[in-house]
Amino acid sequence: MRNRTKLLLLAVIALVGAASLLFREPEGIQAAKGMEQTESGAPAAMVLFPVSEKPNPRAVGMKPVVFNHKIHEGKVQECESCHHTGDPVSCTTCHTVEGKAEGKFVTLERAMHATNLRASKDGKKHESCVSCHQKIYSQRQECAGCHNIVTPRHNDAWCAVCHTDIPTMTKEQLQDGIANNLLPKDNAALADAAIAAKAPVSYVNHKRARYKVTIDTLAKTYEPNVFNHQRHIVSLADKIKQDPLAQAFHASPEIYCQTCHHHTPATTHPSKCVSCHTQTIDKQNPGRPVLKAAYHLQCMGCHDGMNVKRPRNTDCTACHKLRTAKQEASK
Ligand code: HEC
Ligand code: HEC
Ligand code: HEC
Ligand code: HEC
Ligand code: HEC
Ligand code: HEC
Ligand code: HEC
Ligand code: HEC
Ligand code: HEC
Repeated sequence: MRNRTKLLLLAVIALVGAASLLFREPEGIQAAKGMEQTESGAPAAMVLFPVSEKPNPRAVGMKPVVFNHKIHEGKVQECESCHHTGDPVSCTTCHTVEGKAEGKFVTLERAMHATNLRASKDGKKHESCVSCHQKIYSQRQECAGCHNIVTPRHNDAWCAVCHTDIPTMTKEQLQDGIANNLLPKDNAALADAAIAAKAPVSYVNHKRARYKVTIDTLAKTYEPNVFNHQRHIVSLADKIKQDPLAQAFHASPEIYCQTCHHHTPATTHPSKCVSCHTQTIDKQNPGRPVLKAAYHLQCMGCHDGMNVKRPRNTDCTACHKLRTAKQEASK
């Protein structure tokens, strides 16, 4: 009995070990940067609270957000991109949990997350946190390839990137924040503590992923496609390693695998595409691309987004050589 328990334990350790080899390469960059001053005089980082007219039980449920003004000020050209009234005051002057007249009853939730933005009188659209990030990853070439073929799930892990734990915050400070009564210096101290407590980013250990994969389920007119699996992963990871926005939102490295191996939980051995994409139209899922289209749409969707010059989509034989008559006969 004891031996069996021991074996089981060893097996579990081995499994956990294998998974951590793949997913935890601790070459992380230290998140805490020491809060230097901003050029604008705004606090370098601050905690944004769900400011509310009345004690709001729902507001207490959502953790506050740590916003790094310094990082944003460095990358976003115009103050007005965010401070859309031209006056750099708190957003909560006009946008509270309930909404108020000064903000045309645009709630705090809408001001921070809306992606279906309405143009205001001057024809401009004001950016929310989420809409601006979305614009960035849809437009920048290093991001747009994956993001062409991925629909982010906006799940709990996503919320938690912004709505973070602030380890040193007391209940009283939270209530003061909600009532908009917290002293600026206390707010800054909380933001500092939260940034210092952030876990370092870990990257996918691509060396553990398959080097080349031969894709041959369909091969008929063409020879099988020999896919540079590992090189793709390395190249994609390298493109975004130094980007703070990508780092923050891809903190779990298995996201890289799930770009192509979608609709599956993170695993070292994802199912083959053919297990969900049948070769002829699947009557149960008529909207789902058949296998050939699934490959083409995924390969080419990303290449288009990243503006990959070679192979071009029309360059059929760069991905699969045409079979010769002799091979055809021997098949
Ligand atoms: C890009 C950053 C970001 C992400 C991602 C994000 N939020 Fe927020 N959210 C904010 C900011 C900033 C505020 C305003 C400050 C605050 O309320 O703490 C806010 C406020 C809110 C509010 C209104 C205040 C309250 O507590 O009632 C709700 C509700 C909310 N978020 C829910 C969510 C949920 C649910 C998710 C995930 C599905 C999410 N947020 C993801 C930035 C984000
Ligand atoms: C990416 C968006 C963004 C950009 C760009 C930006 N800010 Fe801010 N700023 C914010 C947010 C969000 C807050 C927090 C507001 C709150 O507390 O509700 C803030 C807060 C401030 C505050 C403190 C306001 C207060 O009363 O608490 C000042 C001052 C400020 N910003 C000035 C500037 C200046 C000057 C620029 C241009 C150099 C600038 N900001 C660029 C988003 C931005
Ligand atoms: C002085 C008041 C005021 C302040 C401060 C303010 N807003 Fe607004 N905001 C408004 C008004 C009013 C609207 C309604 C649209 C309009 O008339 O421009 C609006 C609209 C928006 C919208 C568009 C919502 C939609 O439905 O399309 C977003 C997003 C937004 N604000 C974000 C912010 C953020 C982020 C901040 C802080 C950096 C901020 N606002 C600060 C008054 C304000
Ligand atoms: C106008 C565009 C814009 C808006 C609005 C915006 N961001 Fe960002 N955000 C950026 C850019 C650009 C970066 C990457 C900065 C860099 O590359 O150095 C970034 C990076 C981040 C990061 C990762 C870096 C970090 O702080 O750890 C987080 C988290 C984040 N933003 C949260 C927010 C929140 C919360 C809001 C709303 C209060 C917001 N952003 C509004 C453009 C924007
Ligand atoms: C290797 C592919 C890949 C690359 C390259 C990539 N992303 Fe992503 N990204 C993803 C995947 C997959 C998700 C969705 C994860 C999920 O659904 O949980 C995601 C989610 C995000 C999110 C959160 C979703 C949202 O709507 O707010 C942000 C922000 C983001 N990426 C920014 C970037 C930026 C900025 C770049 C370029 C510097 C970039 N990404 C490059 C694969 C990639
Ligand atoms: C970016 C790479 C790429 C490009 C470019 C590409 N394909 Fe494919 N194609 C694939 C992959 C991967 C498969 C699946 C291979 C398999 O399962 O044998 C495939 C399969 C096929 C198949 C089914 C297999 C067979 O041998 O009958 C046909 C037909 C095909 N492609 C035609 C084309 C044509 C025509 C073009 C040019 C207009 C083209 N492809 C361009 C990647 C590509
Ligand atoms: C750029 C897209 C892409 C990324 C990123 C990617 N893969 Fe793949 N992978 C593929 C394709 C395409 C296949 C061939 C699947 C098929 O034909 O069914 C494949 C095949 C595999 C296979 C072999 C499956 C088999 O049974 O032959 C394994 C194992 C695998 N991938 C693991 C991973 C892991 C782990 C990661 C993350 C570290 C990853 N992949 C990232 C595209 C990708
Ligand atoms: C576990 C099942 C599963 C696997 C494995 C799978 N897919 Fe999919 N795929 C889906 C589902 C579900 C959809 C969404 C359409 C639908 O609702 O039927 C989809 C949609 C697609 C689309 C259309 C665009 C989109 O994202 O909606 C492409 C392209 C695609 N898959 C390519 C691939 C490729 C290439 C592979 C292998 C690397 C693969 N899929 C593996 C389930 C799967
Ligand atoms: C998520 C993005 C992405 C997907 C999906 C993707 N590629 Fe690529 N591919 C790239 C990028 C980026 C390059 C540019 C070369 C580099 O940086 O290594 C590239 C380059 C290539 C090249 C030329 C270099 C080489 O490795 O030989 C081939 C061939 C290729 N891809 C085939 C494919 C095939 C076949 C598929 C689908 C099974 C595919 N790619 C899917 C991003 C992608």
